[in-house]
Amino acid sequence: MAVILDGKATALRIQNDIRKQSDKFELAGVHRPHLAAVLVGEHAPSVVYVNNKIKTCERAGFHSTLIRLRKEILQDELLEEISKLNERSDIDGYIVQLPLPEHIDENAITMAIDPGKDVDGFHPVNLGKMLLGHDTFLPATPMGIMELLKTYQIDISGKHCVVIGRSNIVGTPMSILLSRKNDPGNATVTLTHSRTKNMAEITRQADLIVVAIGKANFLTADMVKTGAIVIDVGTNRVEDPGKKTGYRLTGDADFEQLIDKVSHITPVPGGVGPMTITGLLINTLKASHRRFK
Ligand code: GUN
Repeated sequence: MAVILDGKATALRIQNDIRKQSDKFELAGVHRPHLAAVLVGEHAPSVVYVNNKIKTCERAGFHSTLIRLRKEILQDELLEEISKLNERSDIDGYIVQLPLPEHIDENAITMAIDPGKDVDGFHPVNLGKMLLGHDTFLPATPMGIMELLKTYQIDISGKHCVVIGRSNIVGTPMSILLSRKNDPGNATVTLTHSRTKNMAEITRQADLIVVAIGKANFLTADMVKTGAIVIDVGTNRVEDPGKKTGYRLTGDADFEQLIDKVSHITPVPGGVGPMTITGLLINTLKASHRRFK
């Protein structure tokens, strides 16, 4: 039976530490760290994610501001909102929740965010710094996963890590962080994706698999070697008439199949999700320290 990597408990512990640091701001006579989130439209999962981010800010003693905008907003109008957020000295960092409506160019929006306030770590300046190993805002999900590995003292140095999925938000930055000369890090990394031909052959060689492909139960027991570690980034909604909401969340890994084969696995929910929000808080706290300089 595998060790279940408890992202929820780990996140709460880190968030308590962040709360203590946030309380110190008030003692120092300055306002607490302040995160803003921009949500365009009504995309249901995004509404849940953003509300969770705002709620977690409260727990960590942060100020938070939710800016909700109609889905028909023009790109120029959204850019105007971004420009205001860049100017506001009371806001330390902000995020623009993705995906955006189709008529808006996500790249143009990301490029408009002040890199110093880009607590998602999505701006090319911050991604470039990450690539070079400079101090910067790391994308929240990969950072949260690295924190989880640290907490459970999982040594990946020299190990073969396979990342499934090459998104800008998770897979690509994850592959870089795992291979960096750092602790945790120093892994040999294979980045696989939807066009990979011999997926199972590759995943069976992995000591650690990060699966972020957005397909429910994609990673099955036959794709994993005995004793491997599985980090599941998926949050797929599957219909469940037994639930009040009509759906339940399922990961990209088949948890029931894998639990008896692997050495460690993250559950969904309660694994990577809470660590992602913690990553965002870590970045916002970091952004707020600029005010002391
Ligand atoms: N959509 C899905 N995940 C994320 C995230 O981490 N940040 C933003 N801004 N949008 C997302």
